[in-house]
Amino acid sequence: MGSESEVVCVTGAAGFIGSWLIMRLLEQGYTVRATVRDPSNMKKVKHLLDLPKAKTHMTLWKADLNDEGSFDEAIQGCKGVFHVATPMDFESKDPENEVIQPTIKGVLSIMKACVKAKVRRLVFTSSAGTVNVQPTQKPVYDENSWSDLDFVRSVKMTGWMYFVSKTLAEQAAWKFAEENNLDFISIIPVLVVGPFIMSSFPPSLITALSPITRNEAHYTIIKQGQFVHLDDLCESHIFLYEHPEAKGRYICSSHDANIHHIAKLLKDKFPEYNVPTEFEGIDENLEIVSFSSKKLTDMGFKFKYSLEDMFVGAVECCREKGLLPLSYEKKAC
Ligand SMILES: NC(=O)c1ccc[n+]([C@@H]2O[C@H](COP(=O)([O-])OP(=O)(O)OC[C@H]3O[C@@H](n4cnc5c(N)ncnc54)[C@H](OP(=O)(O)O)[C@@H]3O)[C@@H](O)[C@H]2O)c1
Repeated sequence: MGSESEVVCVTGAAGFIGSWLIMRLLEQGYTVRATVRDPSNMKKVKHLLDLPKAKTHMTLWKADLNDEGSFDEAIQGCKGVFHVATPMDFESKDPENEVIQPTIKGVLSIMKACVKAKVRRLVFTSSAGTVNVQPTQKPVYDENSWSDLDFVRSVKMTGWMYFVSKTLAEQAAWKFAEENNLDFISIIPVLVVGPFIMSSFPPSLITALSPITRNEAHYTIIKQGQFVHLDDLCESHIFLYEHPEAKGRYICSSHDANIHHIAKLLKDKFPEYNVPTEFEGIDENLEIVSFSSKKLTDMGFKFKYSLEDMFVGAVECCREKGLLPLSYEKKAC
């Protein structure tokens, strides 16, 4: 268990997952070194500085995945590292240099820093995009599956550069971990949904709430989707960091649902958004594609939240922060 003295580093600290993870780590007694690209950007870091215990148990460190060695200082002296940061620019004009290469070089640079600092364990936040982006979907996926990058690069679907970046980064990380005997585990979240503490609209909610905002480019991602609550995901990170027997990859997914289920849930809970129930080109009787978290739950991890908790929590949080209009009439963000 964490104690006042256990120092951990969290990269991508200001983001959707990083900031919630830090909140939970602080609550559970850890001291956190939070890395961000620009610690002076109050818009991006205020929610971190405002966290309970942040004044005494959290420090901000400047680090960028594009700069080799830039995480060294923050990681030196840490027992553990949670590498959460990743470039998420789906609209990038230069995906190879702005998304793919920084993700791969970044994880390797962090791993070198972990070896130098004799870190006990590095936890990498991977992605479902490393697992099932394939020409046809299987009914059930587990940790043995990898996305088909020839298919991804040929189709270039929404977010393709992100799928390539996470797959190549995780594969490079496994090779490095083996060669350097580094205790490394990867967590594979499916689409993460729920209330959050960052102040801007989280990237994953652009996808999850696309039936409300009518962002059609994102429908394919939730066509046959899998979902996990932000709090469950962050608790699974801490659970696996602390578990002495944790080894390898871990899928973290609590619910499978297709876009029709999600649209119905949103329509029932928020009729004012007039959520569509039909989606062009998407069959009504789509099969469910399941991500198995058996490996995680067999170790004793328990999911706490329902699909409704995730979506209602996310919508209400966006409304409270003024990130989503109260009805569809106004243009959604
Ligand atoms: N949310 C999901 O549904 C989901 C699902 C599967 C996997 N994941 C994984 O979870 C992790 C976090 O995602 P998120 O949803 O929290 O996204 P997010 O809110 O966009 O957070 C990502 C963070 O990465 C940082 N970052 C981007 N480029 C960077 C660079 N060049 N150098 C250093 N930091 C950089 C950003 O930091 P700044 O604050 O400095 O801009 C940002 O805070 C990612 O690894 C992602 O692949 C997320």
